[in-house]
Amino acid sequence: METSDAPVKPGPGEWWQTGVIYHIYLRSFKDTNGDGVGDLRGVIEQLDYLGETLGVDALWVSPFYPSPQKDCGYDIADFTAVDPLFGDLATFDELVERMHRRGLRLIIDYVPNHTSDQHSWFVEARASQDNPKRAWYVWADPKPDGSPPNNWTSEMGGSAWAWDAATGQYYLHSHYADQPDLNWRTPEVKEAMFDVLRFWLGRGVDGVRIDVAHMIMKDPDLRDNPPNPEGAPSPFDLQHPDFSAQRHVHDRRHPDLHGVYREMRALLDAYGQERPRMAIGEVEVMPWDDWIAYFGAELDELHLPFNFGLIETPWTAPALRASVGALERALPAGAWPNYVLGNHDRARLASRVGPAQARVAAMLLLTLRGTPTLYYGDELGGADAPIPPALRHDSLGRDAARTPLPWTGGPHAGFSAPSTPALWLPLAPDYRAVNVAHQRAESRSMLALYRRLLSYRKATPALRVGSYEAIDGGTEQCYVYARMTSTMRLIVALNLTGEPVEVRGRAWAGGKIALSTYLDRTESLRQDTLPLRADEGLIVEAPHQ
Ligand code: GLC
Ligand code: CA
Repeated sequence: METSDAPVKPGPGEWWQTGVIYHIYLRSFKDTNGDGVGDLRGVIEQLDYLGETLGVDALWVSPFYPSPQKDCGYDIADFTAVDPLFGDLATFDELVERMHRRGLRLIIDYVPNHTSDQHSWFVEARASQDNPKRAWYVWADPKPDGSPPNNWTSEMGGSAWAWDAATGQYYLHSHYADQPDLNWRTPEVKEAMFDVLRFWLGRGVDGVRIDVAHMIMKDPDLRDNPPNPEGAPSPFDLQHPDFSAQRHVHDRRHPDLHGVYREMRALLDAYGQERPRMAIGEVEVMPWDDWIAYFGAELDELHLPFNFGLIETPWTAPALRASVGALERALPAGAWPNYVLGNHDRARLASRVGPAQARVAAMLLLTLRGTPTLYYGDELGGADAPIPPALRHDSLGRDAARTPLPWTGGPHAGFSAPSTPALWLPLAPDYRAVNVAHQRAESRSMLALYRRLLSYRKATPALRVGSYEAIDGGTEQCYVYARMTSTMRLIVALNLTGEPVEVRGRAWAGGKIALSTYLDRTESLRQDTLPLRADEGLIVEAPHQ
């Protein structure tokens, strides 16, 4: 399968450029065996919803591997199997087969930075200091006073080092202590983890979402991170409680990781001779110049480093315009943009921007230049759910954005059979009104808006592959931009406020409103003012200039 042919350079119009990715948090998508936890069979059962009703192009499915579930499956005990909680390999193969038959692509989670402490590699590694697997993880002696080897902090808070009394050393865990970090400087680790990729690519997956892609290499000398005097915590970032107290120059983003991604790209490209394969990396928000490095100097690393810029951007027209503009300017020629507004580690979109602006957000996400990733449930406008302390799974509060998808207003919201004793997390309290069945029947629901935006995008080359240009007619209240091909010019105007506004400009005179976020108007525009209602977004088909 693998050859040494020249790297496959993406042409314009690859599926991961023109398509829309839907992020399935598997535990909460659809349960088919009555245990209250979503499963792979549930995805198979809802392919009509995903491919036809909604009309997305690719699914990113969160981890389904055997795991003690200390970090909801991101603590993996076996990289090449399916946890019985979610199904089995035969069900996985069936999912791939059925998706491909419909032209849907599958992206799986690939977690290279760490394993579960129950993984056989770690069980061996911690057996003794001279165990052959010892060097597969990052071990270090204590300081003379017995304290951890350096000041690195875990993403979950506290020191990143756990004391192993039996062998008298600390091991590194950039997340929970149950998730020891692999040592990618050990050649056998790289080989074993590349074998994991070969396993899944051989089973037909179209892409991998690389968990904490910026973390796999660390300073080999384990130097202390310098303090960060300006560090201000982000209110939206549940996952990095004391993150900004340090400048993470030694425990993350080590330049040596780029060599790994170049090799990984060659491996993906080798499989790509048969069918294109891609890698999308979870890369934290960082200065754009550092972020673009993940594409590779020759565009020979990740196809897409996730762009979380908009999640961190204040919800105002000038800030959004600046964030998109900064990305557009930073992108190297040939690199493809992407946008994310919802994620299983963040507060829900509708809770961050409010229910009215969530409709504007939908239009923004699906009309910018670049691949959108849509988080499950955001298509209903679902908000964060309150989770009573006794029912919490996650110490960082991330459960609130991970509740079971409400399919109906019936028992267990149609997520599980009525006889199911309990769901793994409670439903959002408003599920009787906010659910798929209800919103399918309502012509102006949030789901109706997403469906319309997705089908419009699919049918409109200016949105899929056209250029982007911010338009000055945008005001403090409105973010206005154009998407263009040689034959079509679209204007997107988004009112980021709860007050009606008018934007002026010649760009749309003689044009026609193709879509309002209220789904209630499609009129021709005679003058050069564009009136927007409170919290309204519009797509205008403008005369071509
Ligand atoms: C990523 C995942 C997050 C997980 C962490 C550790 O950030 O998105 O859910 O806790 O990695 O794997
Ligand atoms: Ca189940």
